[in-house]
Amino acid sequence: MAKITSFKYTIFLSCSSILNLFFVSLYLHSRMEQSWTKNAAAEAEAVAGISCSGHGRAFLDGSIVDGKHVCECDACYGGSDCSEFLPGCVADADSGDPMFLEPFWLKHAASSVIVLPGWHRMSYEFNDGSLISKELETQIRKLHAVIGNAVTDGRFIIFGAGATQLLHAAVHALSTNDPSSPSRVVASTPYYPVYREQTEFFNSEDYKFKGDTSLYNNERDSQGNFIELVTSPNNPDGQLKKAVLQGPSVRTIHDLAYYWPHYTPIPAPADEDLMIFTLSKLTGHGGSRFGWAIIKDETVYQRMLIYISLSTYGVPRETQLRVLKLLKVALEREGKEMFDFGYKTMRNRWRKLSETMSMSKRFSIQELEPKRCSFHKKVRGPSPAFAWLKCEREEDNDCNVVLNSVNVTGRDGSLFGAESRFVRLSLVKCEDDFDLLLKRMQMLVSEENDSTKIMPQNKTTVNLSSPRSNAIYNWDHVTSKYHLEELTTHIQDQATMPAY
Ligand SMILES: Cc1ncc(COP(=O)(O)O)c(C=O)c1O
Repeated sequence: MAKITSFKYTIFLSCSSILNLFFVSLYLHSRMEQSWTKNAAAEAEAVAGISCSGHGRAFLDGSIVDGKHVCECDACYGGSDCSEFLPGCVADADSGDPMFLEPFWLKHAASSVIVLPGWHRMSYEFNDGSLISKELETQIRKLHAVIGNAVTDGRFIIFGAGATQLLHAAVHALSTNDPSSPSRVVASTPYYPVYREQTEFFNSEDYKFKGDTSLYNNERDSQGNFIELVTSPNNPDGQLKKAVLQGPSVRTIHDLAYYWPHYTPIPAPADEDLMIFTLSKLTGHGGSRFGWAIIKDETVYQRMLIYISLSTYGVPRETQLRVLKLLKVALEREGKEMFDFGYKTMRNRWRKLSETMSMSKRFSIQELEPKRCSFHKKVRGPSPAFAWLKCEREEDNDCNVVLNSVNVTGRDGSLFGAESRFVRLSLVKCEDDFDLLLKRMQMLVSEENDSTKIMPQNKTTVNLSSPRSNAIYNWDHVTSKYHLEELTTHIQDQATMPAY
């Protein structure tokens, strides 16, 4: 009997050991299968963990010195950990690189990460033979529906290497294809310089850049075919714009790069024949080179497709995967977090610069009215991407020279088809860049005022301190119901400014 019991135990023990071995090997196997992301993740996190004192960043594909990745510092910072401020350095407000959104992406590092193995979408085409991810197209349509800034129902969508490529694809697609009567490409001054530069550079027989729209805004001069580029809100002055030219021989391209709640109240969804958007101004990822066009007419769509196909054969699949992920994060909580952060950051910057400029007689910046925003569902004040600065003194006909005296540089007004007494100052760069620009502009204005305590002249101010700010509100501007509503918005904004 004892022999039988011991035999049973031996069988039981053997079975249990075999089963244990089976499950352990299964577990190890599955661990090994999942482990191919581990090294890449560890490498990425190690580089992300390098301290650059909040004034720079180390990147996986950045330089390596003594076997270690090094910090890439913000413009006016240096040293191995970017902790040294370089006092003589120039506050460069020239480029429109929207780095102001970087803090949002640092906070959302985990949810925005993508994994890209060597075998990811190696083919030239998607399975259906197309060059665009259907998932991404769907996400873009959803984005416009949630933000309410463009109609996409029944429209074609095409992707390009940034708005830059799509702008030229659109000019090509809308042109007459008739060298004996080339289409005239026009834009209202001040216009985004690339319209002229690109059209002239490609030097096509089918279309020629012909300058300011206003030159052709009457019957006599408006014979022939026109392609009008309309930028809304406008780069450089932030104004919401409409097409100027009308008629059967006029085609219009609506460049809506900045038609997002960061930069403007959204009065209504745009519903135009050809609209161009870009990721760069939406999420700040200028380097990803991604834009899209929303097109009503199938022939125009087909002509743009041919252009994209022959110039680059589509947008890299790596980019499309990344954009898909970024848009999903941007749309979390119906876009509340990213668009709130974007708007409040830009609104604060505009407020600070406006306050400074209101103390000056030598300089002025554009006036922008508060408007009702369908996304925010309230009246809100301006938050433009750029200040369009004017040097008011007659002798200051080159405004950039005046700015250079305090080590500031902006983009010369003549590039926008305007006078050099105008300069565009970029407000979209990183916090360090904006802070330095503001400080230098304050210096310039205080030199002008040449007094110890400078306050806006003939203006009544009240301090609306909230726990996070000491903003000054200009009561002279509170003239209408809209301004009063905007004041309420301002107080709420100050109280809910995200601290990233
Ligand atoms: C009005 C406007 N359109 C288009 C572009 C080009 O955008 P992307 O970075 O997508 O080429 C810019 C960039 O600054 C812009 O300001």
